[in-house]
Amino acid sequence: MTSLLHPLLLALAVAVPPTTAASCPRAFLQTVTSAYIAAQKAGQPSLFTAPFASPPSPNLIYLENNQLANLATGALATPLKIDIARSLHDPDQCATFTELIAAGDARPHVIHTRMVLDGVGVTLVESVVTAQGDWLFNATGTLELDKGEKWGVVPEGERMSREGVKALGDAYFDRFGNVSVIVPWGEPCYRLEGGLPARGEMKGGECVMVWPSTIIIPYRRYVVDVEMGAVDLFIGFPGLDRTQGQMPMPDSHLFRVEGGKIKYCHTASACVVDGCGLNGTTFGKRRGVRPVNLSV
Ligand SMILES: *[C@@H]1O[C@H](CO)[C@@H](O)[C@H](O)[C@H]1NC(C)=O
Ligand SMILES: *[C@@H]1O[C@H](CO)[C@@H](O)[C@H](O)[C@H]1NC(C)=O
Ligand SMILES: *[C@@H]1O[C@H](CO)[C@@H](O)[C@H](O)[C@H]1NC(C)=O
Repeated sequence: MTSLLHPLLLALAVAVPPTTAASCPRAFLQTVTSAYIAAQKAGQPSLFTAPFASPPSPNLIYLENNQLANLATGALATPLKIDIARSLHDPDQCATFTELIAAGDARPHVIHTRMVLDGVGVTLVESVVTAQGDWLFNATGTLELDKGEKWGVVPEGERMSREGVKALGDAYFDRFGNVSVIVPWGEPCYRLEGGLPARGEMKGGECVMVWPSTIIIPYRRYVVDVEMGAVDLFIGFPGLDRTQGQMPMPDSHLFRVEGGKIKYCHTASACVVDGCGLNGTTFGKRRGVRPVNLSV
């Protein structure tokens, strides 16, 4: 397959900066996600960068929908009325993930953000920023379903291993290209896709979903939170936008796992063209800042 992603993203997909757990305690990562959420609420990027001992590294990479962007003028620069904010903290990788659902805002958004730190400050921020026109976007629908879900800390004796949590996220995406992969999935048996509950069917205690089986999902970047029983994968989703051929689209999937099975799955997927070309060319209006192919 020809690589259609920016070489930078390709590098990010394979290389996570080596860090030690000691340099990235959970409490430190929590100050980072709290600052990020506060900045997005206020529309003030400076609130995000302020808590660090030094200003953000000049090498800070900031991406919105796989495109290099400016922290000071990007999504963080416009206030959002946020209904739900939840974060994963991954001390092993010195990384965080935050899901923001803003349904009550005049410009409803769902944003998934992954950050990578070097123990001092943030070196990478990448967001899938979704709004009206993105894949099945409906923030009201997202919020309504989300309200019925329980995302608390998993009690100590019931936690899955880091590898176990991660493997469930991988199984989900492996199944898109391989019918033999089994994806353990329990109740309530839906994936929250955009704002739509894509429901499976419970059969003998297993949630059976309908899957494609020829899509190979590349560029996987993980954030794992063992205490939350959660993993998020940033990926490239080939063919998601029907107007872009097989170009991988910016996409993030958040999974909650319990008892060895997927419990919840939330997606955020950006379209280059409104509606991802699902309704022919008449529905699709090209969106200003959404091209995924940077320069390759
Ligand atoms: C969005 O979701 C809400 C809540 O489920 C639903 O009432 C509404 O019809 C949905 N809107 C669209 C455009 O699908
Ligand atoms: C498909 O999945 C099965 C079951 O996990 C595995 O044994 C097999 O190697 C996979 N095939 C490919 C081509 O990856
Ligand atoms: C597709 O577009 C047509 C014409 O704009 C519209 O009438 C129809 O409702 C659309 N269908 C879907 C599924 O969005």
